[in-house]
Amino acid sequence: MKCRLMGLVLENVLKTFGAKRAAVTVLDNVSIEIDSDETVAIIGVSGCGKTTLLNIAGGLLRPDAGNVLWDGRPVTDRRRGEFLGFVFQNYSLVDELNVLENVLFPMRIQGLTLCKSLAKRLLAAVNLECRADCMPATLSGGEKQRVAIVRALIGRPSFVIADEPTGNLDEMTSLQVEELVFDLCKKFGAGLLYATHNPRFALRASRLFSISSGRLVEAKKPLE
Ligand SMILES: Nc1ncnc2c1ncn2[C@@H]1O[C@H](COP(=O)(O)OP(=O)(O)OP(=O)(O)O)[C@@H](O)[C@H]1O
Ligand SMILES: [Mg+2]
Repeated sequence: MKCRLMGLVLENVLKTFGAKRAAVTVLDNVSIEIDSDETVAIIGVSGCGKTTLLNIAGGLLRPDAGNVLWDGRPVTDRRRGEFLGFVFQNYSLVDELNVLENVLFPMRIQGLTLCKSLAKRLLAAVNLECRADCMPATLSGGEKQRVAIVRALIGRPSFVIADEPTGNLDEMTSLQVEELVFDLCKKFGAGLLYATHNPRFALRASRLFSISSGRLVEAKKPLE
């Protein structure tokens, strides 16, 4: 595979959980190249390996074999926040911090100057400016997800990885969050890799892949 200098690359990634006879190969020689102006959706049945793939792509989980490159460099050589914003399947907000502090948290743990004005502008963009001082426990699922999306973008990353960002939301809120993810990534010039069980959301991506028996297969979109 030729190596791209920009974007996200997975080369021959292998991941097995368990040992000996209980071993299950969740990702079997998976390769993909995603430019930083692309949107890519991953679909597949529950347990097929979507979160495993996204966690490996996001440098949160080590593959057993294969490489992950961010803008041509191994993940271990990069500061995560410079390249990547991650939206977790379960929001993963810090309960003890208010909304604004949660958004700024990635910058704080990296010792970066806190961009409070950008955080407030982004919260305004997702209609949460008046909730900046609220604690996560007082927010609805859709509001928490919007905070998680803003937090993923606060470092102006080249790439956003989102694991079922609309998974726990009703249809209406889900649509709003879909719009937000796409609009904000476009505005920031960030590539987007996301997993979803929602066919409509999946079809918004410029490319669509499914995982089956450990293999990543590009799916044709209707009317193509
Ligand atoms: N830390 C782990 N230890 C053992 N098995 C694991 C671990 N993490 C994931 N698995 C297994 O790997 C498989 C893939 O899990 P994964 O979370 O990637 O699936 P998924 O496609 O994201 O599912 P869902 O749609 O339900 O979120 C599952 O069978 C799961 O049980
Ligand atoms: Mg998952």
